[in-house]
Amino acid sequence: MSQEFFQVAIDGPAASGKSTVARMLAGKIGGYYINTGDMYRTLAWQSLEMGIDTENDPDRVVAMLPQWDVHYRIVDGKPLLFLNGEPVPQSAIRAPEVSAIVSFVARIPALREWMLEKQRECRGLGNIIMEGRDIATVIFPQAKYKFFVTASPMERARRRLAQSGEVVEGATLESVAADIARRDEIDSNRPVAPLKPAPDSVIITTDGYTAEEVTEMLAARILG
Ligand code: CDP
Repeated sequence: MSQEFFQVAIDGPAASGKSTVARMLAGKIGGYYINTGDMYRTLAWQSLEMGIDTENDPDRVVAMLPQWDVHYRIVDGKPLLFLNGEPVPQSAIRAPEVSAIVSFVARIPALREWMLEKQRECRGLGNIIMEGRDIATVIFPQAKYKFFVTASPMERARRRLAQSGEVVEGATLESVAADIARRDEIDSNRPVAPLKPAPDSVIITTDGYTAEEVTEMLAARILG
């Protein structure tokens, strides 16, 4: 029964290193790693494929919702994201063109409403380590463990620049920092479920720490 499972909520801004840490933490404490950003990225990718102007025409995105079925399924012991019965390709949803518009898609109130239940359903899979922007504030305010993982803008730009396939050719530290800042701005100022720590989230600033060290910090708080 789902009530027996626990949830770990990990929120934070773009490229803060929370994905790496959430994945490592899932391996360490035992649990399924769920990336809610990938769910928003999947809809942004599909909108892009259909030529929808996501910034100016949110109604067209909303009109597509009944035709999209997005959910996590356990395959070979690991959660895998599916769109309409097909696994979602990481290379497509992590592309810089998708990163450039995903925040326009994620700020649409009706789309977030649609997403809410799909994300809450994940608690039925087992113990989950779920990362995003509003996990501790909106999706699982009752989560047993809540973290807000962040880093300085320059550290985050350095980390993103090091992720091949996620930045455009010729990107510089400055251009990547500007892209991240623009996304954080939209994510933090939207009226519905903005990026912010819950009052009871533990804030972890990761500058100068390796992913292993940060994972240890979180694991220590969970395992005691
Ligand atoms: O991995 P990265 O830091 O680039 O971001 P992500 O976690 O893949 O999230 C991509 C985008 O999805 C964010 O910039 C938000 O606009 C949106 N998002 C959201 O609004 N709420 C969530 N729970 C997760 C992601």
